[in-house]
Amino acid sequence: MKQRTIGDISVSAIGLGGMPMSIEGRPDEERSISTIHAALDAGVTFIDTADAYHLAAEDEVGHNELLIARALKSYGGDTSGVLVATKGGHLRPESGPWAQNGHPDYLKQAAEASATRLGVDAIGLYQYHRPDPSVPYADSIGALRELLDAGTIRMAGISNADPDQIRQANEILDGRLVSVQNQFSPKFRSSEKELVLADELGIAFLPWSPLGGITNAASLGESYEAFGRIARDRGVTPQIVCLAWELAKSPQVIPIPGASRPESITNSALAADFELTAEEFAALDA
Ligand SMILES: NC(=O)c1ccc[n+]([C@@H]2O[C@H](COP(=O)([O-])OP(=O)(O)OC[C@H]3O[C@@H](n4cnc5c(N)ncnc54)[C@H](OP(=O)(O)O)[C@@H]3O)[C@@H](O)[C@H]2O)c1
Repeated sequence: MKQRTIGDISVSAIGLGGMPMSIEGRPDEERSISTIHAALDAGVTFIDTADAYHLAAEDEVGHNELLIARALKSYGGDTSGVLVATKGGHLRPESGPWAQNGHPDYLKQAAEASATRLGVDAIGLYQYHRPDPSVPYADSIGALRELLDAGTIRMAGISNADPDQIRQANEILDGRLVSVQNQFSPKFRSSEKELVLADELGIAFLPWSPLGGITNAASLGESYEAFGRIARDRGVTPQIVCLAWELAKSPQVIPIPGASRPESITNSALAADFELTAEEFAALDA
């Protein structure tokens, strides 16, 4: 599969989003493990997770991190080149609503707990999940800086950040910000300015819900005419066309489509090597 870069690491151009395997509607563990193994079989070497991907907060925080750690351990092949990116600072105290905690002490403790669940000495990529309006952004990013300096995390990223926050984070981290993860899809294009800035700064842009989210992904081809038409013309799925469009927007883009079925990620992974013509790209990007 074609490769892209996050910081100093080369990863597959298509990643795997772990969320659908740990929240409402999730499959049983066996199917989730098969889904992660199918991603690895297809050449996926980048997996996105978060401590907040779980159901009951009392006893399930880190469900998705533990699942990914188990799947990597039980995989027959070499997983040493797989980059697992997790996130902290966003919480699900109960099913449904999300909350924020960007306090530096909380973030440092959350990162250590994530490292333990992932079974690693240092987290490959740790992302501040969502700005907490009650804590100055600089203080939260200061915690990422301390985690980097202490070696608890190898690389630092941010999520749900605007252009000012991207610049500010990169400054506080002394130019060591490697990624921005924002919502981006045919349904949600308003992160275009952060995508353009990531391209300018040479840092990875990781579109979340790149297919429009769990409930909209299947009907992408019906909801967005150009995506359905080009998919029919080229004999591929609209999801491949969508991910290929995102990849074509910048060499910094690495979409992380979620999956809870092996077939979904096997199909999505094909997008890495699917080339759109300039005309097709223009029609999709219009
Ligand atoms: N940073 C943040 O705040 C944030 C927020 C939301 C999500 N995320 C991350 O972004 C990842 C992706 O977002 P998402 O899972 O919300 O939405 P998504 O990737 O837009 O859609 C996920 C759904 O797409 C389906 N799918 C995937 N590939 C397909 C294909 N080739 N053909 C047909 N259907 C396909 C999957 O179906 P099946 O389940 O049937 O396999 C899955 O449920 C998450 O998993 C998570 O890691 C981050």
